[in-house]
Amino acid sequence: MKNIIAIISTVIVLGLMGYTFNNGRAFQGGEAGNIIEDIKVSNNQVQMNTQPPQNDNIEEDKIRALRNKAGNTASFEVSNNYRSKCASCHGADGSGLQNGKKLMGPGLFGQSEEKLYKDLIDFKAGRKENLIMKGLLINLSEEDLKEYAKEIAQFKAKKDALEK
Ligand code: HEC
Repeated sequence: MKNIIAIISTVIVLGLMGYTFNNGRAFQGGEAGNIIEDIKVSNNQVQMNTQPPQNDNIEEDKIRALRNKAGNTASFEVSNNYRSKCASCHGADGSGLQNGKKLMGPGLFGQSEEKLYKDLIDFKAGRKENLIMKGLLINLSEEDLKEYAKEIAQFKAKKDALEK
């Protein structure tokens, strides 16, 4: 009787071993292992997709093309502050134009420092009403405004010097 039980349990154990061997768990390259392979593959794909595009050169070319298009305004040097905060609406040279097209802001070119400064102060104080300009100037000190007015007032003289 003992022998029979021993034989039956041996057969069951061997059967289970054979079953697991055939169907295989993850670590044996079975079905579950395939799922893990799939996850690995899709992880790789995700990683590939999140890699930054390798077209730095294209960007550089575009920037160069834009610079060339800007022509002589590229040689018209302005402060980083003016370029980043004002040029988008008032033009790289204060003309209020870009490539001949009118921008959102009026031309500032050729205005006197006093007039520019007064306009800026008035925008900031709300005496001259314009939400765009007020929003832009709200965080700037009067010193900053003076700097801008001074710089913009020199645009004309600068351009004249360039064209000589
Ligand atoms: C988002 C667009 C925009 C930006 C950026 C901008 N402006 Fe303006 N600006 C305007 C508009 C629009 C007006 C006209 C407002 C009006 O007259 O009601 C204006 C008017 C002015 C005026 C008065 C000009 C005039 O003859 O009436 C001055 C001076 C001025 N801006 C200076 C600046 C300076 C300096 C900066 C950068 C710190 C700047 N602006 C950035 C849109 C802009």
